[in-house]
Order: sequence, then structure tokens, then C-alpha cells
Amino acid sequence: MPTRLLPLLALLAAGCGSGDGSPPLAAAPAAPAATYPARTDLMVVKLLDGAPRRWPSTGFLPVKSARHPAATPDRDLADDLRKQFGKNVLDPADLNPAQAEQFARLLTAAFGTPADPRVRLPGWDAVAAAVASRKLKADPFKADWESATAAHAGLQLDDAALARGSVLYRRWCLQCHGPTGAGDGAHAVELNAPPRDYRQGVFKFVTAFPKPGQPKKGLGPSGKPRRDDLKRTVRNGIDGSMMPAFPTLSEAELDDLVSYVVHLSVRGETEFAAATRAMQPTEDDPDFTGPELDWLFDQSLMAVLHNWGVAARSEIPVPPQNCATADDRLASAFKGFKRYHSAEFGCASCHANYGREPQLKWDLWGTVVQPRNLVLGVYRGGRRGEDLYARLYGGIHPSGMTAFGNTLAAGPSYLDKPDKLWNVVHFLQALADPADRRRLQDPAVLAAVKERLRAEGDPFLDDLAAVRLDP
Ligand code: HEC
Ligand code: HEC
Repeated sequence: MPTRLLPLLALLAAGCGSGDGSPPLAAAPAAPAATYPARTDLMVVKLLDGAPRRWPSTGFLPVKSARHPAATPDRDLADDLRKQFGKNVLDPADLNPAQAEQFARLLTAAFGTPADPRVRLPGWDAVAAAVASRKLKADPFKADWESATAAHAGLQLDDAALARGSVLYRRWCLQCHGPTGAGDGAHAVELNAPPRDYRQGVFKFVTAFPKPGQPKKGLGPSGKPRRDDLKRTVRNGIDGSMMPAFPTLSEAELDDLVSYVVHLSVRGETEFAAATRAMQPTEDDPDFTGPELDWLFDQSLMAVLHNWGVAARSEIPVPPQNCATADDRLASAFKGFKRYHSAEFGCASCHANYGREPQLKWDLWGTVVQPRNLVLGVYRGGRRGEDLYARLYGGIHPSGMTAFGNTLAAGPSYLDKPDKLWNVVHFLQALADPADRRRLQDPAVLAAVKERLRAEGDPFLDDLAAVRLDP
């Protein structure tokens, strides 16, 4: 507990907190649980097959409902998921008791407790011994270990930051995100979208886009945030969801909170990666018990940290937008309309009728999402042009939204590469503005823009007959 709270608490204890006997407004942080509770909920290991038929009732997440189909109003959704047990959905109850007990020990050794959180990598000597006893080459493991060690330092996971972060987390976040970051706090049942479960190791609103084609370790670096992304989310909140903004927290407090969120995420993903592996033994795999499970756990932890390090180095490059005047912007928005409907981008294949029509999808947690209604102009990852640019470039990995940075790399018209995405961003901004929407649909405006571009030697809009945006 931070020392500056003590005088206030002393006052309250003395009975002169608020004078009228009403409770204090800010709750003190909950007392930390002795240990992090063991994971018992189902694990979604791949995007689920098929598409959800409807929104689930708030408080009845399909993955939870799948355990108790008779007790949910959404029996149909629960049954869909039950069909995917063993394939896309695994149950930690399938670990044998010895494995479960060993996991609990390994997790506490590596990650501590809520009161004493830490992220401990094994020392190189221990890794070297494990490698030697398996008669493996040391070099690749040395590289992995060094990469994980460097990532650990960059992520600010020192014990002191985590201890401070843990206190702040219990005060501000626990009630929604839960003690292990599972998104299962006391208030979670009231919320739709549900609070993020950090344990999958993936996030939605990130500005990292690891280049495709690098060697993939563990579950890979896709969907990992940069620290700045987590700070932005906490400072600004998530528009259009129940995730609040915390504009009054200091930079230092944000830093500590983010370290703690990373800690929970690394902890959860290490457990997820190692447990799902242990639950799916193959013929040439050892039976994961004893030293083999220790080794699987250590390798998973190194891979998870390595991947966070990759994301930290993979910031999406956002070039400046090339629009000096309002006319440039309008012309760019028309181009964006054309690109939006092009085979290269194909936004409409998911955002039907500009996202007005629900085309429900599963995300990587087995929760239900809808490709955003783009007419509303409510964006969860930030509403600035730069935010939208980054979202299109990197996609939304856990929701299956395409990363169009790949399109740029492979696209045919490489000459105007960066502008292509800015065109689409300008279109989105115009689409969400009623006055701009009228302008785009006005044949006289379109004719004037075409004329102007033709005079500049740019025939891109020549074949655009008309723009229709309103139903
Ligand atoms: C009132 C409930 C509530 C509280 C309190 C809350 N959150 Fe959230 N949080 C949410 C919801 C809901 C979402 C998911 C929104 C979505 O999926 O669009 C979320 C999402 C997130 C994400 C995921 C962002 C991403 O890119 O995927 C992070 C990180 C996060 N919260 C951190 C925090 C931290 C740190 C705190 C405490 C300072 C906190 N939250 C407090 C409800 C809450
Ligand atoms: C494969 C399906 C798919 C395609 C293709 C796709 N999207 Fe999305 N998009 C989604 C889904 C799903 C979400 C919502 C994710 C969520 O909330 O978890 C989304 C969300 C968004 C958002 C909201 C971002 C935010 O911060 O809230 C924007 C903007 C967006 N899409 C624009 C586009 C544009 C423009 C294109 C074409 C260049 C496109 N999308 C192509 C599936 C898709």
C-alpha cells in the first residue's frame, strides 16, 4: 500500500472521514489473494469454426456457457462451442493432477504472488544444463535466452515496479479484469464487450506489426502490444466500450500499471502455451511430467518474452499524410472509397453495408464481435488519422481483421504505397461525417474532383461513376 494513503486511512479509521457517516468514495485496494488462483476455465486455442448466430446475453460468455449448457439462455451458442471441444477448445481439467500441481509450483516460482509479483527467467546455467542433458546444441537456446533477457529489461518488469503496479491494479482494474487478468472481475458479468482477458497474450488495439516470415517462436508475436499501446489504452480508455479512461493517473503510475498488465499477460500466456502443449501430446513427444514439464515451461516463458521483444521493435511506420488543402483531402477520400471496394482491400466483405449490418464473428477468446459500424465514427483504438492508419496497417489480429500492411508490401501499385492507406483513412473520416457523406455522394462534386485530378495527370478516378453511401 502506498504510504501516502496512510494518513487518509488513519482518519477514516478514527471516524472523521466524511463527517456524515457515508462511505468514502474511493475504495482502498482489495487485499491481495495469497496466491494467484489456478486456471480452470476453457482455453480457446484457435479462431472458432463457423460464425456465431447472434449476440450472447450479457453475462453469459459462450465459452463459459459451454461448461453449463443447461444453465444458459444461449444454449445454441454453447452447443456450437461444445462441438469444438478437443479441437479448438481445450480443458485444463485434462491435465493430470501431478501436472496441475507442478504447474502451480512453476507459476509461483516464476511469477510470484499478487503481493510479491515478479517475472523470473531461469538463469543461463540452468538453461545450459537442461540443453546439455538433452544433447541439444546450445547456440540457438543461448540466443533465445538472450533475447528473452533483453525483452524483460525493455518491458520494465523489475520487482519494485510490479509491486507498485499490483497495488494500483487492485484499486483500479481488478473489479473488471480479475486477479489473474482473466477478464473475470466482479463487474465483468455486466459488461459487453467483456473486459480483456490478458492471458491469451494478444491485444486488439496495437501499433506493432511484426514482419511476416521471421522464425516463429511459441505462439508468435502477432497481436502483442508495445508498452505505449497499453499506456494509451489506460490513459484514454476504449471508446464504445465500458473500459474507462484514467486521465488523472501520473506517467509513473501508468508505467507501473502497464508493467503489471504485462506481468499478468506473460504469466497467463506462458501457462496457456505450456498447458495446451502438454494437453496435446504427439507420438514423438515426451510425456510432459517432471523435468520435461519444467523444460517446456521454461521454453514457453522464453518464447513469450522473446515475442514481446519482437513487438517492441516492430512499430508500424505511419508516413505523413499528403494533404495540404481541404480539396486534397476530399480527392483522397474519393480514392479511398474506390480502394475500400477494390479487390485489393475488400473491406466490404466483412463490413457489410459499411458495417451497418451485423456479420458476427468469433474472436480469439471465443467472444462475439462485429466488424465495426464505420458510419458511426466510434473507434476503439483511437480516432486520430494516425490511429486509423495503424489499425488498417496492422489489422486486428485476435478478431481476424486483415492486416493491410501486407497488401502494401505485395501490392501492384507500389509507387503510391503510403498514400493508399491514407486514402482509405480519409474515406473513413468522411464516411462518419454527415456533411462529408453528402459531399461524396454529390455528382457535381465528384465531377469537379475528377476534372481536377485529370488536369494533374491522375486518371485514378476516371472510371468511378457514382458514390452511394446512404441506404
Ligand atoms: C469498468 C470495467 C473496466 C475497468 C475498471 C478497467 N477495464 Fe480495461 N477493459 C474493459 C473492457 C470492457 C475492455 C474491452 C473493450 C473491448 O474489447 O473493446 C477492456 C480492455 C482493456 C485492455 C485491452 C486493450 C487492447 O488493446 O486489447 C487493457 C490493456 C485494459 N483494459 C487495461 C485496464 C487497466 C490497466 C485498468 C485499470 C487501470 C482497466 N483496464 C480497468 C473494462 C474495464
Ligand atoms: C476479415 C474481416 C475484415 C476485413 C476484411 C476488414 N475488417 Fe475492419 N474489422 C473487422 C472486425 C471483426 C472488426 C472489429 C474487431 C473487434 O472489435 O474486435 C473490425 C474493426 C474495424 C475498425 C475499427 C477500429 C477501431 O479502432 O475500433 C475499422 C476502422 C475498420 N475495421 C476498418 C476496415 C477497413 C477500412 C477495411 C478495409 C481496408 C477493413 N476494416 C477490413 C473485420 C474486418
